[in-house]
This record gives sequence, C-alpha cells and structure tokens, in this order.
Amino acid sequence: MSIFRVERQVNGVAHLVMDDSSRKVNVIGEPAIADLERAVTVLESDTELRGVVLMSGKPGSFVAGADVNGIAAVTEREEVHALVRRVHAVFGRLAALHCPTVAAIDGICLGGGTELALACDSRIASEEEHTQIGLPETMLGIIPGFGGTTRLPRLVGLSTALDLILTGRSVDARKAERMGLIARAVPAAWLIEHAHRRLAELEKRSAKRRRDRYRARGFMAWFMDVSAAGRGLVLSRARSMTLKRTAGHYPAPLAALDVIEKGAGRAVDQALVIEANAVSGLAVGPVCKNLVRIFLLSERAKKDPPVAEPSPAPAPVRTLMIVGAGVMGGGVAALASRNNIDVRLRDLSPDSLTRALQTVRSLANERARKGKGGARALDAQMARILPGIELTGVRRADFALEAVVEKLDVKRRVFGELEVRLRPEAVLATNTSSLSVTELASGLARPERFCGFHFFNPVHRMPLVEVVRGRKTSDATIVTATRPDSW
Ligand SMILES: NC(=O)c1ccc[n+]([C@@H]2O[C@H](COP(=O)([O-])OP(=O)(O)OC[C@H]3O[C@@H](n4cnc5c(N)ncnc54)[C@H](O)[C@@H]3O)[C@@H](O)[C@H]2O)c1
Repeated sequence: MSIFRVERQVNGVAHLVMDDSSRKVNVIGEPAIADLERAVTVLESDTELRGVVLMSGKPGSFVAGADVNGIAAVTEREEVHALVRRVHAVFGRLAALHCPTVAAIDGICLGGGTELALACDSRIASEEEHTQIGLPETMLGIIPGFGGTTRLPRLVGLSTALDLILTGRSVDARKAERMGLIARAVPAAWLIEHAHRRLAELEKRSAKRRRDRYRARGFMAWFMDVSAAGRGLVLSRARSMTLKRTAGHYPAPLAALDVIEKGAGRAVDQALVIEANAVSGLAVGPVCKNLVRIFLLSERAKKDPPVAEPSPAPAPVRTLMIVGAGVMGGGVAALASRNNIDVRLRDLSPDSLTRALQTVRSLANERARKGKGGARALDAQMARILPGIELTGVRRADFALEAVVEKLDVKRRVFGELEVRLRPEAVLATNTSSLSVTELASGLARPERFCGFHFFNPVHRMPLVEVVRGRKTSDATIVTATRPDSW
C-alpha cells in the first residue's frame, strides 16, 4: 500500500503527495516512514528533477502528527531510538535532495507533519482558518524528536522556537509567516502555484544557500538569538519559567531546553543524535504514557456515542440559565458567553453577581492580552450575560444549571423554583461535587430531564465536565448535555 505518491509534472517538478488511504488523516508512523524511504529513492534517482513540492492528498488536512497509538504502545527505549533514527535518516535524505524542496501546507500540520515540512528547504501555507502549524509534543510528554527540536531554532531563531516547543501551541499561516516558520501565507486556491513559484526562486540560489534559515532582524534579536551571552540568558530564563510552571513534574520541556542548548552550534546530524537520545527516554517514561493516555481517552470521549445507539437527537443549547453566581457559576457564565451562548445569571446576592461579572471581564481581558479576541468581542461577550436577583427568563432557557451552595435542601428549593418555570424539553442540571444525583432528583416532577453537570475549579483552566446520569435520567438528556446541537 502506498502512502506517498510521486507525480512528475510537465515542468520537471515532482509532487510528493502524502495520502494514506487507510486513514482519515495522514500520520507519521512506521508504515509512512517505510513508504517515504521508497518515494525518496525514486526522487533521488531522477537526476533531471528541478524541484519537489511536498503536499497532502487529503483536502484541507496536511499531516496530523506522529501516530499517537504507536507512542502509547512502545515500551522499549531501543525500539523508539531505532525508529527515530530511521526518521532522521529519511528526512535527512529529503533535505539533501539535489533539487529544491517546498512543503505546501493546507490544513492541520502538527508534530511529525511539521517536522516533515521542516526537512524541506522552504514552506508555504494556506491562509485558511483550518491551517494550523505547531509542535505539540511537549504536551504529550516528549520533545519534537523527528528533527523538530534541532531544525526549528535554525529556522525561526531561539526565542520563537522555545515559544512554540515549550507551549506546544500551534499558529495560523499569517503568524507562521511572521515567525519565519513558512516563507509565505497564500490563499488555498493558489497554494500549488505559489509552491512552484517558490521552487523557481530557490532554484536560482546555490545549493548551499537554498534552505530558508534564521536571520536576526535588529540588534536585540541578534543578541538574544545569536550571541552566546544572549542565548544563555534566554535559555536560563526559559528554564526557570518552565520549572515554576511545572514544578519539575514534567521532564519534556526541560529536555527540549537541554537538547536545544547542546545542539546549538553543531552540525544538524550531530544535534539529531542528541535529540534521538532524549526523545527515546521520554517516550517510554511514565509521564509520557499518562499524558498520551489522557489524550487518547479525550479523543475517544469526543467520538464514542454517550448512550446506546440509536441515540436520540441532541437539542440545541442557545440560552443557559445559571442559578448561583459564585466561584463556579461565574466561571461557567464566562465560558458559555465566550462560546456565544446567552446566559441568564441569577443569585440572591448582588455582590456575588458583581463579582461574577468582574470575573468574566477579567478573563476576557486576559484572553485579549494573549491576542485572542479584541474589545468588540469582549463587549459582545458581556452583552450576552443578563444578571439578576429575580428568577426571570427561565422559560427561554434550553438548559438550567444550579450552582448554589452545597446543601441538599437549598438545591431542592432551587429545583422547585426552576421546574415550574422551565419548558418541558429543557435540561435541568446540578453542579454538585458530592451529592447524589439520584437523590437530588427525587421529588422532581420530571427526573428524566435531570443530570449532574459537574465543572471543575477553575472552570477556564479545567477542560473537563463530568456528566452524571441519575437513575431516571433519560438518554435524550445525556445526549444534549454531552453533545448539544449548538453548544
Ligand atoms: N468551588 C469549587 O471548587 C467547586 C468545584 C466543583 C463543583 N462545585 C460545586 O458547585 C456548587 C457551587 O459552588 P461554589 O464554589 O461556586 O459556591 P459559592 O459559595 O462560591 O457560590 C454559591 C452562590 O450561590 C448563591 N446562592 C445561595 N443560595 C441561592 C439561591 N437559593 N438562589 C440563588 N443563588 C443562591 C450564593 O449567594 C453564592 O453566590 C456547589 O454545589 C459545589 O459543590 C464547587
């Protein structure tokens, strides 16, 4: 089965197309590596070739990353090491082809996909929203080990490389262009045309100068990214910030810093040896195994049906009623309003309501400072929340969440007030941490539409909600609570 196709074009350029027909998205695992070895041999033997465009055969999706199931399964350090070195070798052959190479990225390009693209001389990417480029490996307890830890600093400079590798965040094409990660962001429709143009530009350069590489712009950038004193400063600051953030529990970001430090100033081949040693140890360690397990479980939770098939259709949730504007109610109000849900927020205490609105505003401000959403988005978000001390507007709610104090009798009173006002098809939920959902449901007129909907504190940092089924909770309630039509 072929995963990579070599398609010779009339102008002497070859398209190296990755398209794994057995999968929805391309991933870099052993079968892909074996097939890349075959495809690169074909390219190497074509001495007439003027250039290679690496692309995906899957519309709107480049390469999702390394095969995470493979990482989960491997237990022997030597096995990881052998595979990593094999990847280094074949990516190295791609990097050393006699003609220029350009990766044309459209869609998700993460981890091993980014590392494959980094082996090319240059990269261009589509400006579409679905194009996201990044190296999320440290979030899985490893470092970018298919050449990313070595090649990225040489392309974008030390500071930018640390930002991307240590946070694991991905960036769109425009940001990638500003960082120097790609040469150009272009509309998707012209991606391949631009890739050919880029090849023509590279063809004019001598083989030695063909590869895009970091050039410090200005004294400050030179000092931080190039000078020995500046680099030492940047690395030691990154190390102490990482230690502070992780309390030393996560070895991967620290290993990435070590590999970058030790590899600096060495030839790529020598630096890759250091990279391979580091990633092989991490990949079989307990932190990696646990982080990969969490990743796989959350992927499964997104896909597995929450109830037996055929499952009822989920109802849309456009308006959320929250009763109790304390720590949790305020946090949920912030999350829901940010996700375009209209929120009615009710509390007996005006002070609680004021504090909750302050929380929403300060969280939105924090996001704006990180470049996510501007002043207009903040105003729109605030306008979506209607606070009040009276229980009004309940009939409009598709979902009502109780987040008052942890006392059975107080909660029961709140349910009583809500039930008589809620539409029959609306969901009624509790954020209780410790009380029994079945017990809380007793006395309700419609226990089938009641469930536990347990957020964790702080809501904006904890990407987990526990949906709890009571003895009488219906499938329809569970489906709407886990996967609403419009959440
Ligand atoms: N704080 C946590 O870490 C956490 C985590 C998960 C779940 N929970 C659960 O979430 C719920 C709320 O916890 P919290 O920490 O936000 O509490 P909190 O004390 O911060 O807030 C409770 C709010 O409910 C209001 N309230 C009390 N009775 C009311 C009523 N009859 N009508 C309207 N408002 C009323 C209070 O004025 C207060 O503002 C509890 O069930 C708790 O077990 C808490």
